[in-house]
Amino acid sequence: MIVRRERSDDVDAIHAVTAAAFRGVAHSAPPVVPGGDPGEATLVSWLRDDAGWIPELSLVAVEDDQVVGHVLATRAHVDDRPVLGLGPLSVLPHRQRAGLGTALMHAVLGAADALGEPLVGLLGNPYYYGRFGFVPARSVGVAAPVPAWGDNFQVRTLSRYEGLAGRFRYAEPFDRF
Ligand SMILES: CC(C)(COP(=O)(O)OP(=O)(O)OC[C@H]1O[C@@H](n2cnc3c(N)ncnc32)[C@H](O)[C@@H]1OP(=O)(O)O)[C@@H](O)C(=O)NCCC(=O)NCCS
Repeated sequence: MIVRRERSDDVDAIHAVTAAAFRGVAHSAPPVVPGGDPGEATLVSWLRDDAGWIPELSLVAVEDDQVVGHVLATRAHVDDRPVLGLGPLSVLPHRQRAGLGTALMHAVLGAADALGEPLVGLLGNPYYYGRFGFVPARSVGVAAPVPAWGDNFQVRTLSRYEGLAGRFRYAEPFDRF
C-alpha cells in the first residue's frame, strides 16, 4: 500500500470509496439527491471546486493500482486565522481495520505540518482520533462550529501552533448540510 497525492484520474474512484465507506454509517451526511450517495461523497466534490481546496492535502491509499482509501484536509479558520479542517476520511469497507486509516491520518498530518499549518480540526470519535494527538477543541480554547458537538469536535496542534482561540469554521461546502 502506498499513500500519495490525489491525481486527476482518481476523482471517480475517490467518489466511489467515499460513498462506499459512509453508506450505512449512522452519522453519515444525508444524500443530496434522495436515494443517492451519502453526502460525504458529494461534499468531497464540492470541496474540490471550493477556494478552500488544498491539492497537497487530498491523499489516497492505493493497493494494486486501486484507490482503497482517501483523506482530505481543506482550508478552515479559527476566527480569522487560517487552519485546516480534516475530512472526510474513508476506507473501503472490505479493507477497514487493516491500518489504512491510520496510515492516511499520519500522512495527512505530516503533510500539514510540513506545509507550516498550525492546527487541524475535525468532528469524530475521540477514541479513534485521540491516538493521533487530537484533543477536545475546547480544551485549547477553540469553540466547535456547532456547540452541541461537544468533545467530538477535536483539534490536533502542529509545529507552527502558538496558541489560537476562537470559533472554528470549516470551508463553506460543509455548511450546506
Ligand atoms: C474510520 C475509518 C476511516 C478507519 O479506517 P481503518 O482503516 O478501518 O482504521 P485502522 O485500521 O487504521 O484503525 C482501526 C482502529 O480504528 C477503530 N475505528 C475504526 N472506525 C472507527 C470509528 N468510526 N469510531 C471509532 N473507532 C473506529 C477500530 O476500532 C480500530 O481500533 P483498535 O485498533 O483499537 O481496534 C474507516 O473505518 C471508515 O472508512 N469508516 C467509515 C467512514 C467514517 O466513519 N469515517 C470517519 C469519520 S469522518
